[in-house]
Amino acid sequence: MSKLKNTFSSSLGKKLIMALTGLFLCTFLVVHLIGNLQLFKADGGKAFNDYAYFMTHFTPIKVVSYLLYTSIIVHALYALMLTLANRKARPVSYGAYAGSANSPWTSRNMGILGTVLLVFIVVHMSNFWYEYHWGKVPFVEYRTDLTTGQTTQTELAAADFKDYVKYIDNGVEITRAKDLYATTAFAFQTWWLVALYVLGMAALSFHLIHGFSSAFQTLGWDHKKYVPLIKMIGIWGFGVLIPLAFAAMPLYFFFCI
Ligand code: HEM
Repeated sequence: MSKLKNTFSSSLGKKLIMALTGLFLCTFLVVHLIGNLQLFKADGGKAFNDYAYFMTHFTPIKVVSYLLYTSIIVHALYALMLTLANRKARPVSYGAYAGSANSPWTSRNMGILGTVLLVFIVVHMSNFWYEYHWGKVPFVEYRTDLTTGQTTQTELAAADFKDYVKYIDNGVEITRAKDLYATTAFAFQTWWLVALYVLGMAALSFHLIHGFSSAFQTLGWDHKKYVPLIKMIGIWGFGVLIPLAFAAMPLYFFFCI
């Protein structure tokens, strides 16, 4: 037990934990992005509101959410501990590729990029996550005619149900839900919040361009057969595609809705 404790309190153990929590956070990003793509559906937010309810009320996902919050905190704390320890010992930053010619700027600035991201996550969770659970999110009713497939929607002044109901009445599917779509659309009418999100996604991009492949290096996955593939996924998937797709969301609401 104390051997295990020693491993995880050593510098290598901390790097291992950072790599594992970092890759878990990358997996979350993929799931979060796929879910949030519902925002682009021209259905008045029905699919997105269904998805938000499912994500916040389905027990296995709720359990994973607690793992997610813990991972964010552990990842940030260990980064801070490693940076302070490195500074004390020698001026070399965290990361297996630190100082390499491939990504010198990103590897030298992981701490700053991570800090910007942490601020982003705190602001972001207070915008949506806090609002959804404890804030003043409006309520909406969708009525879908099951014969024609046509849906109409009405904002509800007050709710006589808890968070969400769905039932069928005379061939009409009725869904009443918290309208997180409306909250999101409203939030992204504010230019400085949109700018903050785009800046946050730039930080995410640079953080992951280095961080994704660095995590695999720390875990010892440095076989020359796989390194080019890992780097390609890190740069084009996590460094470009995912941040661009996330940044498209606030920009879409600001310019197109
Ligand atoms: C820019 C586009 C984004 C939009 C529109 C968006 C939207 C949302 C919404 C509506 C929620 C609350 C509902 C839910 O819990 O599923 C949420 C939660 C969350 N978001 Fe985002 N998000 C975006 C990007 C990001 C990014 C880039 C990160 C991480 C770097 C992130 C991290 C989180 C976290 C940690 C939660 C709490 C999840 C949970 O409770 O399980 N989001 N987001």
